[in-house]
Amino acid sequence: MLLMGIETSCDDTAVAIYDNKIGILCNNIYTQRIHSKYGGVVPELAARNHLQKIIPLIKKSLLKINKNLKDLNAIAFTSGPGQINSLIIGAIVSHTLAFSLNIPIIPVNHMEGHLFSIMLQKNKPSFPFIGLLISGGHTELIYTYKFGKYKVLGKNIDDAVGETLDKVSKLLGLNYPGGKNLSKLSKYGTSNKFFFPRPMTYKKNNLNFSFSGLKTCVKNFLKKQDLNNFQTKADIACAFEDAIIETLYIKSLWALKKYNINQLVIAGGVSSNKKLRIFLYKNLKKNNIKLFYSRKKLCTDNAAMIAYIGSKKKIFKKKYILNNIFINPNLSLDT
Ligand code: KG4
Ligand code: ZN
Repeated sequence: MLLMGIETSCDDTAVAIYDNKIGILCNNIYTQRIHSKYGGVVPELAARNHLQKIIPLIKKSLLKINKNLKDLNAIAFTSGPGQINSLIIGAIVSHTLAFSLNIPIIPVNHMEGHLFSIMLQKNKPSFPFIGLLISGGHTELIYTYKFGKYKVLGKNIDDAVGETLDKVSKLLGLNYPGGKNLSKLSKYGTSNKFFFPRPMTYKKNNLNFSFSGLKTCVKNFLKKQDLNNFQTKADIACAFEDAIIETLYIKSLWALKKYNINQLVIAGGVSSNKKLRIFLYKNLKKNNIKLFYSRKKLCTDNAAMIAYIGSKKKIFKKKYILNNIFINPNLSLDT
C-alpha cells in the first residue's frame, strides 16, 4: 500500500510517501522563511505559502520515487492541532485528491505523529513508554499504553516550551525560529554565570508546565543588562536554556517514577536540541531510564510521521468516503 502524507499545521509545508512494506520512500519539507523577519509565524502568510508550495511539493515527491498520483492507495493529512488557515489548505488539497482518485482519506492528529516519529527509527521503544512532546505549541507528558491509547499526564498551562524559546530569542535579538538560534548562541555562554528559576518544580505532584513566568523573569532581567555585549547575551542564553532543560528533566523524571516506566521518548521541534539530548541521556541513565529521540528531520514538523500514523489506522473501505471532512485546531491526544 502506498500512502501519501500531507502536513500543513503551521509554517512547514510537507509531503511524504510511505510504503507499508518498505517504509518511508520520500520525506519532503519546505520550511517557510518569510516569518523570520516577523519574529514568529504570521498565520495568513503561512496559509498563502502552503497554497503556493503544496502542489509543487506533491509533484516533486511523486517524481522522486518515479510514481504518479494513480499509484496512491490512500492519503493521510494533519487535521489538527494547528493554525486553522494552514490546516484548511492541507485538508482541501487532501480531500480533493482523494475524491478525484476515489481513495480513502485519513485525518491524523499532528501530536500523535510527533509521538510516533520514533517508530521510523531503527532504535524503537516498546510499550508502554512516556512521551515528552515539546514543540512550538505544546509541552506534554503522555503515558503511551499502545498505539491509539494515551493519557495526558501533564501539559503547558500557558506558553509552550518552543514558544518560550522563540519569545526569549526575539528579546535577545535573534531571528525566528528562535530555539535553534538560541542554542547556537548559548554554546558561547559560560554555565552558571546567571541563574533562572525552574518553574513548577517545587510541588512534586503537579506534572503541568508553566513557562510564561520564566519568560517574564528573563525579560525583566534583560532590562538591566548590556545587550550590545555578546558575552553577556551568550551567558543569558546559556542560563535560560539550562532552566528549560532542567525543568523538562525534573518533570519527566517525576512522571517516569510515578508510573514506574523506564523509557522516555522525546519528540517535537525542541527535541532536536543537542544540549537537551545530552543532559537527559546522562541523567536518565543514572536512573536506569532509556532515552529515545529521532533524527532531526523527524523531530520538527514533517509529513513522514503523518503518513506513518495513516498507515497504522484501519481503513474500512478502499474508496473515498465523504462524511469525514473535519479539522480541529485544538485537537488533543485525549480526544
Ligand atoms: O514541532 P515543531 O517543528 O513545530 C510545532 O509543531 O510547533 O517545533 C517548533 C519549535 C520552535 O519553537 C523552535 O524554536 C523549536 O521547535 N526548535 C528548537 C530547536 N529546533 C527547533 N528548540 C531548541 N533547540 C533546537 N535545536
Ligand atoms: Zn509539530
